[in-house]
Amino acid sequence: MRATDIPRVIGHRGVRKLAPENSLSGVREAARQGVRWVELDVTLLGDGTPVIHHDDDLARLCGRPQPLRNLSLADLPRIDIGSHYRDSPPEPLPTLAEMLTLLDELDMGLNLEVKDHGEDPRYVIQQIVPVLERFDPERLIVSSFSAEQLRQCHLLVPDLRRGFLTARLPPDWPLLLDRLGIYSIHYRWQALKESTLSLLKASGYPVICWTVNNKKAGERLLAQGVTALITDDPQPFARYL
Ligand code: G3P
Ligand code: MG
Repeated sequence: MRATDIPRVIGHRGVRKLAPENSLSGVREAARQGVRWVELDVTLLGDGTPVIHHDDDLARLCGRPQPLRNLSLADLPRIDIGSHYRDSPPEPLPTLAEMLTLLDELDMGLNLEVKDHGEDPRYVIQQIVPVLERFDPERLIVSSFSAEQLRQCHLLVPDLRRGFLTARLPPDWPLLLDRLGIYSIHYRWQALKESTLSLLKASGYPVICWTVNNKKAGERLLAQGVTALITDDPQPFARYL
C-alpha cells in the first residue's frame, strides 16, 4: 500500500458526531457520507472475543459500569450501544468479525486501534490477528499506543501494516519505529510541530492526525503534508473525501 492509497479523511470511531460510535450503524452512516476508511477501537471480552469498543466497561455507552472482562460472546445481543446517541434505535455491541463483514460489503478500509486495558499484549494480539486474516491487508492498518502490542504484532504478522499512536515521539524514535516495523505514525494533531512532521515525512512515514474536528486546523495540516485526518465529522472536509 502506498501512502497515496490512504484517503485523506478517516472517520473516527465510525463517524462519532453523526451516529453511535464504534457501531455498525455508524459505519453505514460513514459510507453514506462518502467516507472510505474508518478508525475503530478493538477490545477483548472476558472469553477473548474481540469486539468494537473503546472503553474497558459499559458505563459511558450503556449507563452501567460493567467491565468487558466479565462478558462473553453470548452476552452481546442484550448489550445496546445505540440508544445513548440522540434518538438512535438500540443495536448490539458488534464483534470485530461482524464489523469486518460489513466493511467488506461496503468496500471500506479500516484503521483498527487495539486498546490497551492492561491485558497481556501477546494474548490480545493473538486473539485479534486470526480474525483479521480474512480482511484485505491493503485496506487495513492496525495501530496502538502500546509498543509491546505493536512488537507482538510485528512478531506474529510482520506484513501487517502497523501504526504508532502517539502524542510525543520518544528520543530514540528512529530506532524504535524501525525495530517495530512501523508503517505509519498516528499523531495527536495539537502536539504535532511542523519540524516533527518534516522529520517524519523525510523518514518516509505517512503521518495520520487525530482527532481533527477543527476545519481550519485540518486544512492547514493537509496543506503541510499530513497524509490523513481522523475526524468525528467528515462534513467540513467533504472536498477531501
Ligand atoms: O486512533 C486515534 C484515536 O482514536 C486515539 O484516541 O481515545 O479516540 O481512541 P481514542
Ligand atoms: Mg481510537
